[in-house]
Amino acid sequence: MVLVLGIESSCDETAAALVDGERRIVAQRIASQNAEHAPYGGVVPEIAARAHAERLAPMIAGVLADAEVTLDDCDAIAATAGPGLIGGVMVGLVSAKALAMASDTPLIAVNHLEGHALSPRLADANIAFPYALLLVSGGHCQILRVDGVGAYRRLATTIDDALGEAFDKTAKILGLGFPGGPALEREALSGDPQAVPLPRPMVGSGEPHFSFAGLKSAVLRAHESGQYRREDIAASFQQAAVDCITDRLHIALADMEKVETLVVAGGVAANATVRAALERLATDQGMRFAAPPPKLCTDNAAMIAWAGIERLRMDGFAPDPLDLAARPRWPLDPEAQPVRGAGVKA
Ligand code: KG4
Ligand code: ZN
Repeated sequence: MVLVLGIESSCDETAAALVDGERRIVAQRIASQNAEHAPYGGVVPEIAARAHAERLAPMIAGVLADAEVTLDDCDAIAATAGPGLIGGVMVGLVSAKALAMASDTPLIAVNHLEGHALSPRLADANIAFPYALLLVSGGHCQILRVDGVGAYRRLATTIDDALGEAFDKTAKILGLGFPGGPALEREALSGDPQAVPLPRPMVGSGEPHFSFAGLKSAVLRAHESGQYRREDIAASFQQAAVDCITDRLHIALADMEKVETLVVAGGVAANATVRAALERLATDQGMRFAAPPPKLCTDNAAMIAWAGIERLRMDGFAPDPLDLAARPRWPLDPEAQPVRGAGVKA
């Protein structure tokens, strides 16, 4: 039975996990850095890197102990090698390299986005390629066609903020604290999604790209007007975001050669309103819908270990070299062109 150790440190979660070839998460530990970053209202890269460095080694020892195995029992060590905050990525990758060298175990450098993209297959053995993927996290907002491991075609991206970033900024405007996404979802539960008129940026555009900066500004104006209740703004923002992603997906799916399954992954996929809207869309389109359980949507090491297993199983698998560099940017689809009007995010 294949067993892979996964390591994740690209943002503000330090995580290690052991996953086997039968999709069992044999052991996992995760430490969030919310308390460290909360006073600043967002992730501070230097603080994140230091916290990863302090926590990772004991955490890896901990998951091996939990599973009562050693590195000799592992077929590979899979670590996030990008994209993400470079200091944190380096901490995880260097740790993985040192362990790989010391134990003579193959190293697999995993693209964090590939971890999210393949996470539905860890949760459910019946998700076969190809599938349409909405990848919505704090740093990315993309629609992709997934044809196989390492085979991604990007149909859409954001020209400004990612969806998770829009949730976080809206939560900050409303004084809901950090991290914003889950807090905003809770606040929206008691609000009226029709109460506040908010724009739906890009809706109706013939290309399936996203934009959320204008929505965030409209939230700020609504909040400062003093006319609306906080829960109504939260619910109306969430509804506007859902309307944007369903409209954009309609356009992208029409462009895409027919696929049977629509999958959502990344931190925002933990949101129940988003999941319900996508499930309705999939049903309307005669597609199957899949979303990993919320704990596999937000950053975790099990998805990194699983991506390692998927790579191990490919024909012609070769371990990554121990001098491989961490990559702050690493697109899933290297052929994807920059979008007109886009800022630095691709
Ligand atoms: O995938 P992830 O954990 O980290 C990145 O790779 O970015 O995604 C984190 C993002 C944050 O912006 C967070 O606010 C958002 O996902 N998020 C949510 C929810 N849970 C996490 N957004 C909306 N509703 C949620 N329940
Ligand atoms: Zn992520």
